[in-house]
Amino acid sequence: MKIITSISEMKQHMTEIKRNGKTVGFIPTMGFLHEGHISLANRAVSENDFTVLSIFVNPTQFGLGEDLDRYPRDFAHDCSLSETAGVDVLFAPTVSDMYPNEYSTFVEVEKISSVLCGASRAGHFKGVATVVNKLFHICLPDRAYFGQKDYQQVQVIRRMVSDLNMDITIVSCPIVREQDGLAMSSRNTYLSTEERKQALILHQSLAFAQELVGTGERNAVKLIGEITTLIQTSPLADIEYVAVADVNTLKAVESIQGKVLLALAVRFGKTRLIDNIVLEV
Ligand code: PAJ
Repeated sequence: MKIITSISEMKQHMTEIKRNGKTVGFIPTMGFLHEGHISLANRAVSENDFTVLSIFVNPTQFGLGEDLDRYPRDFAHDCSLSETAGVDVLFAPTVSDMYPNEYSTFVEVEKISSVLCGASRAGHFKGVATVVNKLFHICLPDRAYFGQKDYQQVQVIRRMVSDLNMDITIVSCPIVREQDGLAMSSRNTYLSTEERKQALILHQSLAFAQELVGTGERNAVKLIGEITTLIQTSPLADIEYVAVADVNTLKAVESIQGKVLLALAVRFGKTRLIDNIVLEV
């Protein structure tokens, strides 16, 4: 596995790979890799001739007071996991190379970025869309792999790719969970033992929602009420939102018909966790 940190070297390398007619799979990450990230890498390796994984803790997607400064990092471990997964190039650019002085250009995906996580994290999806756009231009992928764990992020990227006429297939991959059901996340490392225990309520409430829908519940407001009450049985849980939304537009829906997204954002102390499920009736 080759490690590249310079944007110009990466562009040269990828231009050469594409000239040789190879298909390129790409997994953008912020590092501190876990099995969720690796599931995306495995899928990319199996579907493409050449696989690139990027590691970049992107400052423009963190708001003031968020965890940019303490975001966990372990580059040596990330390299070893990526290499084992069969990644060909690990691209780890520097902040000053990605955002030099006078940097002024941003990509804003309207509407879909303003709901759910976008409502409380102003500018977050602008930072995500901008960095993913830049990484696409540098890494030249045919397919890019994203986790359904960040459901809204996938939809924002799909919208951007479609609106900006990019020839890149966006592949959305299932949520990988710990054995006890907690969705894997680099941020889980922030949780205290007690918070970690209580955080199981997220995944349990999604299972409960599925059960309620299975027994005939079709009213979104009632479902949100039941889920909220269940999450509140965990004293450390501070709910940011419980939402039932259209799977494509992410607009709130009133009744559960066909496929709908149930999405949660809940804080445990300083740690903000998200999880979701697509309910189908
Ligand atoms: P990061 O949080 O490192 O996640 C990188 C990719 O891994 C995302 O597509 C995310 O959805 C996926 N992922 C994380 N946890 C997962 C899990 N438990 N199961 C399946 N997939 C999972 O998301 C970002 O970084 C950044 O916003 C980025 C897209 C890199 C832009 O900076």
